[in-house]
Amino acid sequence: MNLENKIAIITGATSGIGWSTALVFAKAGAQVVATGRDFSRGESLLNEMNRLSNKEHLFVQADVTDHGEIKKVIDSTVKKYGTFNILINNAGIAPQGTIETMTVEEWDKVFNVNVRSIFLFSKYSVPVMRQNGGGSIVNISSTAGVVGAYNLHAYSASKGAVIQLTKSMAADYGKDRIRVNALCPGGTLTKMMEDLEGQEGLKKFAELFPLKRLAQPEEIAQTALFLASDQASFITGAVVLADGGFTAV
Ligand SMILES: NC(=O)c1ccc[n+]([C@@H]2O[C@H](COP(=O)([O-])OP(=O)(O)OC[C@H]3O[C@@H](n4cnc5c(N)ncnc54)[C@H](OP(=O)(O)O)[C@@H]3O)[C@@H](O)[C@H]2O)c1
Repeated sequence: MNLENKIAIITGATSGIGWSTALVFAKAGAQVVATGRDFSRGESLLNEMNRLSNKEHLFVQADVTDHGEIKKVIDSTVKKYGTFNILINNAGIAPQGTIETMTVEEWDKVFNVNVRSIFLFSKYSVPVMRQNGGGSIVNISSTAGVVGAYNLHAYSASKGAVIQLTKSMAADYGKDRIRVNALCPGGTLTKMMEDLEGQEGLKKFAELFPLKRLAQPEEIAQTALFLASDQASFITGAVVLADGGFTAV
């Protein structure tokens, strides 16, 4: 699979799944616009991408809860490359809590990062992609958007919303040759997962998966690569589970 001549924006690229996706996309020939809040991790990622490929990549520091900063990412991309074809909406947070234990502020923050940012990034990306003859948007949801999740009420609700937004965007923008898909990872070895489960918890959690292990971030990145690529040309509105069988049983 290759992404030659593609320009891809990846949110939450400063860590975990987004970081791996940026490297996999750069290796596949894309020009990558990576974004995240952490400047020094962003610069390190940019250096690694530049080592892997001779394309010109970009890191734009931005907080996805800030409307103006989302516009800055889009504007910087269009200014540098003229257009872009791929958007990976990956930034996310997963604070624990039930409806009883979470505050309103915590609930709103989860929806700001996990859902509102997808609304805004997509809002500004669709016109650019339409004008360019099409594109591919991959929204990172979760198994928690398909089945419930203990003590992750806001997270699970937000990831369910991502799936329904994906299907509705796919319905409206198919005519513009813009494909929109949801990718639902199962437990993946990133900081988010370590924070949720702790080292001991990770082993126990892995036992719940038919494959008896958690994913490496690169395995999720490879699925994102397929969905973003022209090889997935007839796939839109899909909910693709890369979950080691977690939701199959
Ligand atoms: N790991 C799993 O098991 C798993 C399973 C299912 C779904 N997912 C989903 O996969 C996605 C990536 O998660 P991950 O596991 O790779 O987590 P991670 O290692 O914690 O990375 C999260 C990324 O999101 C960014 N981010 C968070 N809040 C942000 C904000 N306000 N503004 C800008 N960027 C922000 C972080 O950037 P900074 O560090 O620069 O702030 C970081 O790059 C998330 O949507 C998550 O829900 C993960």
